[in-house]
Amino acid sequence: MHITVTGAAGYIGSHACLKLLDDGHQVHGLDNYSRSFERTVQALQRAGGDRFHFTRVELNDQHATTQALKLHATELVMHFAAFAVVPESVKFPLLYWHNNVGATVSLLNAMDAVDCGKLIFSSTCATYGEPAPEHIPIGEDCPQRPTHAYGESKLACEHMMQAWVQSHALAERDRGVVFLRYFNVAGGDHLDRIGEDHDPETHLIPICLRAATGRHAPLVVHGNDYPTPDGTCIRDYVHVEDLVQAHIEAINLIPRRDTLAMNVGTGVGASVLEVLRACSLAAGREVPFHVGARRNGDPPRLVSNPEKIVGLTNWRPTRSSLEDIARSAWRWVNR
Ligand SMILES: NC(=O)c1ccc[n+]([C@@H]2O[C@H](COP(=O)([O-])OP(=O)(O)OC[C@H]3O[C@@H](n4cnc5c(N)ncnc54)[C@H](O)[C@@H]3O)[C@@H](O)[C@H]2O)c1
Repeated sequence: MHITVTGAAGYIGSHACLKLLDDGHQVHGLDNYSRSFERTVQALQRAGGDRFHFTRVELNDQHATTQALKLHATELVMHFAAFAVVPESVKFPLLYWHNNVGATVSLLNAMDAVDCGKLIFSSTCATYGEPAPEHIPIGEDCPQRPTHAYGESKLACEHMMQAWVQSHALAERDRGVVFLRYFNVAGGDHLDRIGEDHDPETHLIPICLRAATGRHAPLVVHGNDYPTPDGTCIRDYVHVEDLVQAHIEAINLIPRRDTLAMNVGTGVGASVLEVLRACSLAAGREVPFHVGARRNGDPPRLVSNPEKIVGLTNWRPTRSSLEDIARSAWRWVNR
């Protein structure tokens, strides 16, 4: 297939490109490098040869985005591009509405201009906000009540895509979207061609491993007095290659004139201290850390109920044990 990947230079988008290229697809990556690096695209070019094309484009520029989609006959878009740092979104909410919602308006218009109607959208468990205990593990029917601009912007995109699909269906045109609501993504390529490459880094596992190298600041554990067995927050970690496999499965599930939402998580939670131990084992040395204050808006426990994706597809997480995630992330950090 000819597949366009937005956010192709970013962490998850680049791993998706790599898998699509490994599977023999033609891939057209789009990115503006606002949160990523050219070196990642160079790695994709080495892996994909002439089946990988890249266009540097700002998605908020609708004309440029349309021109980019016209370059290659796109059959399907995977839309990863977004800003995704929660505290930043609390400080600069308009940045998130502009970059995440505005750019998605532009992308949908550009898809209409080239009559491409298949979309897989990177959504997030942050759209669920802080679910009540009876909604954990979190199923897709859990009420979506985001608590910050990042989650709100992603939920707004889901709503906009529903309206887009419905308006086309009324005119008997095919538009279909799968919303994949990711939990916490971590780990890297099994051949170490790429990995998680953020600056600054805000995700727990790479922060732990960078701290283990001794070249970065010790980890701050934000609160150890939560109502969890060891007092630290519990999250559901999914290996980036398992997550990408969920996208591959989703390709065949894109509805003709509808949307479909699926959570992507393992259903198993790990606390910050458990992650810390797995990272210490992977690195072969202690992760230096100290306990700090709680952060606003950190729910004690966010764990997915993966029954829907497991029921509808052949997807099963095979690389998402903490040990596997920490080992692959360590190889990348320590390369
Ligand atoms: N990483 C996670 O754990 C996680 C969890 C849930 C959801 N998600 C979602 O997955 C997607 C990818 O996340 P990631 O961790 O790879 O983020 P990332 O920051 O590594 O990648 C995003 C990429 O999009 C690009 N981009 C952003 N705005 C753009 C614009 N206006 N025009 C062109 N390019 C633009 C950035 O330069 C970057 O390369 C995001 O939509 C995010 O909301 C991620």
